[in-house]
Amino acid sequence: SDDAPPQAKASPADATTGAAASPPARAFPKGFGWGAATSAYQIEGAATEDGRGPSVWDVFSHQKGRTKGGDTGDVAADHYHRFYEDLDIMKDLGLKSYRFSISWSRVLPTGRGPVNAKGIDFYHKLVDGLVARGIAPVATLFHWDTPQALQEQGGWEHRDCAKWFAEYASTMFYSFGDKVPTWLTLNEPKTVVDAGYTSGIHAPGKRDRRIGNVAGHHLLLAHGLAVQAYRATGAKGRIGAALNLSPAYPADDSAAARKHATAADAEENRRWLDPVLQGSYPQDWLATQAADAPVRGAIQDGDLAVIGTRSDLLAVQYYNPAYVTAKGARVKKHKTSQASWQEIYPEGLYDLLTRIKRDYGDIPLIITENGMPTTNAIQDQDRITFLRDHLTAAHRAIQEGVKLESYHVWSLLDNFEWAEGFSQRWGIVHVDYETQTRSRKASYDWYKSVIANNGL
Ligand code: NOJ
Repeated sequence: SDDAPPQAKASPADATTGAAASPPARAFPKGFGWGAATSAYQIEGAATEDGRGPSVWDVFSHQKGRTKGGDTGDVAADHYHRFYEDLDIMKDLGLKSYRFSISWSRVLPTGRGPVNAKGIDFYHKLVDGLVARGIAPVATLFHWDTPQALQEQGGWEHRDCAKWFAEYASTMFYSFGDKVPTWLTLNEPKTVVDAGYTSGIHAPGKRDRRIGNVAGHHLLLAHGLAVQAYRATGAKGRIGAALNLSPAYPADDSAAARKHATAADAEENRRWLDPVLQGSYPQDWLATQAADAPVRGAIQDGDLAVIGTRSDLLAVQYYNPAYVTAKGARVKKHKTSQASWQEIYPEGLYDLLTRIKRDYGDIPLIITENGMPTTNAIQDQDRITFLRDHLTAAHRAIQEGVKLESYHVWSLLDNFEWAEGFSQRWGIVHVDYETQTRSRKASYDWYKSVIANNGL
């Protein structure tokens, strides 16, 4: 499926020197934000150092049987101690943009004041290090690591958690607002609801979809309140939510399959996009929640106006499509990655981006995650193919007028993949967890030449 003319391909020589050869067949817009992403609990380690308080993931990962091999983020990729080395790797790679998350319980050990100065200090050094290297910081406020102290007061089931989050967000805006130009409120609220509160495979490990939907509403409210708090600071940067979206397709041509695909689209996409971008829940999704009185009870007057407070951008995370049969079952039509849930379908990214523009207007889009786990330590040819195909799809969407500003590969480093522990390696940089040695994978060299050429 490689239809690029031969001169557009990076030769191994290009890859190592990063030299721009002939112009790329698929040139990206000038100034395109080539990026990479990580999250705090997945890379930082130093879980009990310098005053950090525990989060739900510290507690959860230490419970028996929760993660593969009993892995935890206690040390992870030890980024807290090695961030200067990691910054230099980013610089070598030529990154224009780096997406990280702030550990809420590192800066506010019990979730709400007092502030931990050492925690704030760490992120100042990180952000300053990015800026000094010409890399734009993109900060995520919540990447699943709810402070345990707040969990003990109900966590996201408690409506006040939205307020606690907005207070934390304000503290971050006042601390970093002048040097972080792009803020993301929530990372993948859908995964929090589905994995954290429904299947229970993620922290806090609840298995109650009704409660999950209440938590989901409070997460959305938290997003809206944080956007309002950001506006209140008068900051000049931009803010939005990071949503994982899966274009939904009927598995066959039947009317029944099409109907189920519409329902899957409500569940996967509109249920998050509509409130954030339009200030409403989709009627068909609400109808499926009809028997679920507490969900409706959680929605108070004015909430949707708060949730729909104008965002400056939408952050899109794309991993897989959703195919639905005439009976409403989810099926896979393409091969999967090492992550059994991840069916690989690059065209889905094109469909997703163009659909957002069509249905939600021209809001600036950034891709904050896209990637796959691979089992080869260094020679990750499959990752190169994956990234190339997805970037090709993104490029086609840009050609058709989609305002896509940046792309962040998940992930910069191999890291703690939640319930999968360290068994899945998602990085373009290999991490040897025994020695914490970083080694560049083939995909790193490939991506470096893509960045140098501003295209494929
Ligand atoms: C989405 C999550 O935001 C990230 O934390 C995770 O590692 C990747 N998906 C891969 O599963």
